[in-house]
Amino acid sequence: MKFSTTFFGASLVHLAVGTLTSTYYLKENVVGRDFYSHFDWQAIKDPTHGRVTYVDEPTARGLNLTYASHDTFILRTDATTVLDPAGPGRNSVRITTKNTYTTHVAIFDVRHMPQGCGTWPAIWATTETDWPSGGEIDIVEGVNDMGPNAGTLHTVEGCTMPASRPQSGISGQLDCNWLVNYNTGCTVKFKSNKSYGPEFNSNRGGWFVMERTEQHISMWFWARDDHRVPLEIKLGLPLLNTKTWGLPAAYFPNTECDLEKFFKAHKIIINLTLCGDWAGETNTWAASGCPSTCVDYVNNNPTAFADAYFDFAAMRIYQPIF
Ligand SMILES: *[C@@H]1O[C@H](CO)[C@@H](O)[C@H](O)[C@H]1NC(C)=O
Ligand SMILES: *[C@@H]1O[C@H](CO)[C@@H](O)[C@H](O)[C@H]1NC(C)=O
Ligand SMILES: *[C@@H]1O[C@H](CO)[C@@H](O)[C@H](O)[C@H]1NC(C)=O
Repeated sequence: MKFSTTFFGASLVHLAVGTLTSTYYLKENVVGRDFYSHFDWQAIKDPTHGRVTYVDEPTARGLNLTYASHDTFILRTDATTVLDPAGPGRNSVRITTKNTYTTHVAIFDVRHMPQGCGTWPAIWATTETDWPSGGEIDIVEGVNDMGPNAGTLHTVEGCTMPASRPQSGISGQLDCNWLVNYNTGCTVKFKSNKSYGPEFNSNRGGWFVMERTEQHISMWFWARDDHRVPLEIKLGLPLLNTKTWGLPAAYFPNTECDLEKFFKAHKIIINLTLCGDWAGETNTWAASGCPSTCVDYVNNNPTAFADAYFDFAAMRIYQPIF
């Protein structure tokens, strides 16, 4: 009798925790110069073979490729140098959070994202030391101004998504296994063209939001002019309840994928590469209507990269209350 009472009590506690993981408090409010204390600059070789040279923090600041004021953080590529075809790629920036995250909500209030032929910007999360077995979550990604935004998971074998899910976006491949179709991942295209590239920018950007729990990974997007954006997101309030936000743009449940097993503690990465395995891939480049070849274009047209920048109003990380 005593045993079964305890058991009943334990499962009630579990149930309560499970249902309450929709309420969160603001843990990190990263605005303006805070980006310098929350991120590391990674002067690494681009793993996706882009025509870029990732520079370290002093170089990025010296060349004004990263810039911060009290309310703005800018991250961009060089837009002044004609490149020697035999020399290194265009200077750019890749930053990664110092902290790691499991269950959390991440809000990116973005005013402008990199646009232009050859650009391949991304806001994503992974375990860099343990890829792909620690999983990868892509929140913002696209190439060559071709919207809308896509949200994608990449895992090792054994994680798939149901075809029919409560989300407004359109599912692509359902298998998250990186070995299927050259690491396409399980992907969802957002419905709104305002979620990416020139259309995103002409609307003064918007909010990308990701919630990660053990039960699901959800992503939302609201354009700047969308009156349905929850006030707690718009104002960066100290408390959130994700259950009140309505249908996500992309929803990845744990029904055919043990999220706890396939996703470890992640760092958030913001990177801006040019060309490389996706943006510069021959068919993708041709379909984008961009001139010449991607690498030639990047080498010879510095001023075409004047709009190849992120402008962040904030990154906010929320942790579960329970
Ligand atoms: C940039 O981000 C994407 C994730 O969207 C990742 O697949 C790619 O490896 C990253 N590229 C670089 C150069 O870091
Ligand atoms: C650096 O970039 C910022 C943002 O674009 C700009 O306001 C500032 O004038 C630039 N500084 C220099 C020295 O060019
Ligand atoms: C979004 O863009 C795509 C590709 O350019 C286009 O086919 C589609 O009609 C657009 N959707 C809306 C709602 O404008």
